[in-house]
Amino acid sequence: MSNHKIPLKGKSIVFIGFMGVGKTTIGELVANKLNRDFIDTDVEIEKEYQMPITQIFTTLGEEHFRKKEKDFITKLCQEPFLVISLGGGAFLQEEIRNICIDNFIVIYLHLPWDSWKNRIPLIIESRPVLQGKSLGEIEEIFNKRQEVYSKHHFKIECENLSAEEISAEILESLKNIKG
Ligand code: S3P
Repeated sequence: MSNHKIPLKGKSIVFIGFMGVGKTTIGELVANKLNRDFIDTDVEIEKEYQMPITQIFTTLGEEHFRKKEKDFITKLCQEPFLVISLGGGAFLQEEIRNICIDNFIVIYLHLPWDSWKNRIPLIIESRPVLQGKSLGEIEEIFNKRQEVYSKHHFKIECENLSAEEISAEILESLKNIKG
């Protein structure tokens, strides 16, 4: 499955991390700066089904959505020079983790819980995984997810940084890649 023919510098870049950390905003900025196409897996899946993720969850179910995420990322793994924002739950699947690590440059965007929790009201309406949960339950999901994100090539600490500053830091890290 791994595409070792693509030189490291040409590999597509994938952003991972918890919902609402800024994968899309930062991914778009990085894509612009690198002059690459940007793909948001959630947006692509929404386009295909012509419904928002919340509706996909309620009508087709989470399992269906997760399978679609896997099919989608599997198809993309041969494509070089992209910047991809991956839905925050995709890394729950070991197969997706392996595909990403083997084929892409995986960048993990991290925020500590105390900063992230302030974003809940801004994102909850479009995030079915958070809906109907207490703050404690959301914190539990947040903590469990940190383990699945531990497979990555770069981790970027996003607290107190603007999207511009974060993308500049990412470009610096990418400059140091050899190959
Ligand atoms: C999910 C994250 C969402 C979206 C879906 C499920 C998750 O993407 O894929 O609502 O389980 O973490 P974002 O990480 O872009 O919010």
